[in-house]
Amino acid sequence: MRGFLVLLLPLFLTVPVFSAEMGKFKYKDFKKPEQCGRCHKQIYQEWKSSLMAKSFVHRWDDVEYFRLALPHALKFSKVAGVKGGCIACHAPLAFLTGDIPPKSPSEGTRANEGVSCEICHNIVGTTEKVPYNFSYIIKPGRVKQGSRKNVRAPHGVKYSEFLRSPEFCATCHDEGSPYGAWVKSTYREWKESPYAKEGVRCQDCHMGYGPGYVTKRKFRKDMAHHTFHGAHSKAKLAGAVDLGVYPDKDRVVPGEKVKITVTLFNQKVGHYIPSGSAEERMLWLEVWAVDATGKRWHIPVDKKGFKGEEYTIADPNAYAYQAMGEILGIKNFRGVKRDGDVPKGARIFRRPFFDPKGRMTICQWYTKDNTLVDYRIGPRETKVETYTFRVPKDAIGPIRIEAKLYYALVPSSVGKFLELPETEYEPVLVNSASAVLSTK
Ligand code: HEC
Ligand code: HEC
Ligand code: HEC
Ligand code: HEC
Ligand code: HEC
Repeated sequence: MRGFLVLLLPLFLTVPVFSAEMGKFKYKDFKKPEQCGRCHKQIYQEWKSSLMAKSFVHRWDDVEYFRLALPHALKFSKVAGVKGGCIACHAPLAFLTGDIPPKSPSEGTRANEGVSCEICHNIVGTTEKVPYNFSYIIKPGRVKQGSRKNVRAPHGVKYSEFLRSPEFCATCHDEGSPYGAWVKSTYREWKESPYAKEGVRCQDCHMGYGPGYVTKRKFRKDMAHHTFHGAHSKAKLAGAVDLGVYPDKDRVVPGEKVKITVTLFNQKVGHYIPSGSAEERMLWLEVWAVDATGKRWHIPVDKKGFKGEEYTIADPNAYAYQAMGEILGIKNFRGVKRDGDVPKGARIFRRPFFDPKGRMTICQWYTKDNTLVDYRIGPRETKVETYTFRVPKDAIGPIRIEAKLYYALVPSSVGKFLELPETEYEPVLVNSASAVLSTK
């Protein structure tokens, strides 16, 4: 229960910006990842293809910082801190050297190194009891923080309990907005979960131990792989949630009503799904009836009647994210479609964020509140949705009831509006299940 209390505790009126480490160092205090890669070849290659290596140069990060957050920080003092704040997690080298704002990724500065070897392996602790908002303490130097005792290396290695702990990840994975809302809470979600009690850490699920070459010569059968796969990995998302479809009868007469129950069990994720950048992630369930000729009907979810439920049911007429237009200086911007192209009536598992004017927003730094409703699927939680379908008179049996669970990193409407690459918002199939109704 302790973790639960921590989560509910409101942040102070204004979230402190931990800038103790800002501008304390020089770029030359940190080696380039390529230098580490000379000996740690395999780990370098894994890291290089992960989001950690792209945390500043990746298109969506580039767009959100340079087109939205930075201009907003420069004209609106309440959010001024994010000018350096975003950078402390996304381009820590630039933050540590006081290179704020950094030049754009196209300039090829060292900010582009992102969350590099020299960030993680020089972090020695945190200033906070329960870390968040880049509250890391860093000591660059010859000796690297390592995960094993008695390791001999040319650069010296110090065994670090902290590196192996989820609190280490929490320094960047939990975040409070300038308004005191928890806009990222992956660590706090994990802390309350059964995984924390069982001692299953972030590292256990995201660094997959197995055979590997720690250096070109040194083989280990249980090396910590630097894959860091998350929501950008289709393989990691696949089957994360278990699905079941149960109609209340298996024979129907056209014109008759069927009740369908769908169960969704979060079987793989050590925190909520979606987690992390919850302001923009969408997980949704489409339930379709398909007859023998291929004719399809989308079935809307039965309402449950909880507070804020309207934000969890796709509505093609709902508009949101007006703050984007405000920041970009577009007059009378009515927003873009709240739910992208999700079919009307589909259940969306999400946690909506609201700006100080009460509008739903993807601008996490401009989030005043996100406590209205949290309809994501918790670790090992099962959600149950029901559907009522009147089989059309002209349907030709047998009729298949299909349930499809999709994931999108960003609503497609936002992705198109900001001209992001399609890979950033195209739906990814997480799982599917079906049942067949025969006709009498
Ligand atoms: C210095 C800050 C920092 C630390 C420490 C850190 N991360 Fe991250 N992590 C990031 C940033 C920034 C991103 C987002 C990259 C992006 O989307 O551009 C990220 C992304 C991720 C992702 C998502 C990848 C995806 O495909 O969506 C995973 C998984 C992840 N981190 C796991 C971890 C784990 C596990 C730890 C602890 C062992 C950790 N991180 C420690 C900054 C950090
Ligand atoms: C000249 C080769 C060489 C270079 C360059 C090098 N390392 Fe190492 N490193 C080693 C060797 C050898 C080990 C010991 C491996 C073992 O026994 O597991 C090691 C071990 C480590 C460990 C500890 C592994 C553990 O088990 O905890 C870390 C962390 C590490 N290196 C990080 C780095 C970083 C970061 C860089 C770049 C700044 C770097 N290394 C550059 C050779 C090198
Ligand atoms: C039991 C395994 C497990 C544990 C423990 C776990 N994760 Fe995950 N994590 C997953 C899986 C599976 C996914 C992919 C599905 C998804 O995106 O939710 C994921 C996704 C993520 C993402 C992307 C989330 C998003 O919605 O964009 C991040 C970031 C992340 N994990 C960080 C962490 C951190 C930090 C911890 C520890 C505090 C942690 N994870 C603990 C299994 C785990
Ligand atoms: C996001 C933080 C992060 C980044 C970036 C990162 N590491 Fe690590 N690394 C870790 C953690 C955490 C562990 C220990 C995992 C565990 O066993 O608990 C680790 C373990 C290691 C080990 C020991 C592996 C073993 O099992 O013996 C080496 C060597 C290493 N890292 C080198 C590197 C190099 C080289 C880079 C850059 C190419 C790098 N790391 C980037 C977090 C990071
Ligand atoms: C406390 C550390 C932290 C701060 C501060 C922070 N971020 Fe992040 N950011 C992360 C992590 C960790 C992730 C990955 C979460 C996930 O995978 O869901 C992320 C994800 C993102 C993403 C999503 C990337 C994708 O491909 O989906 C964008 C865009 C982004 N951040 C931009 C920003 C901007 C702009 C700011 C400043 C207003 C900012 N971040 C502040 C840590 C931080």
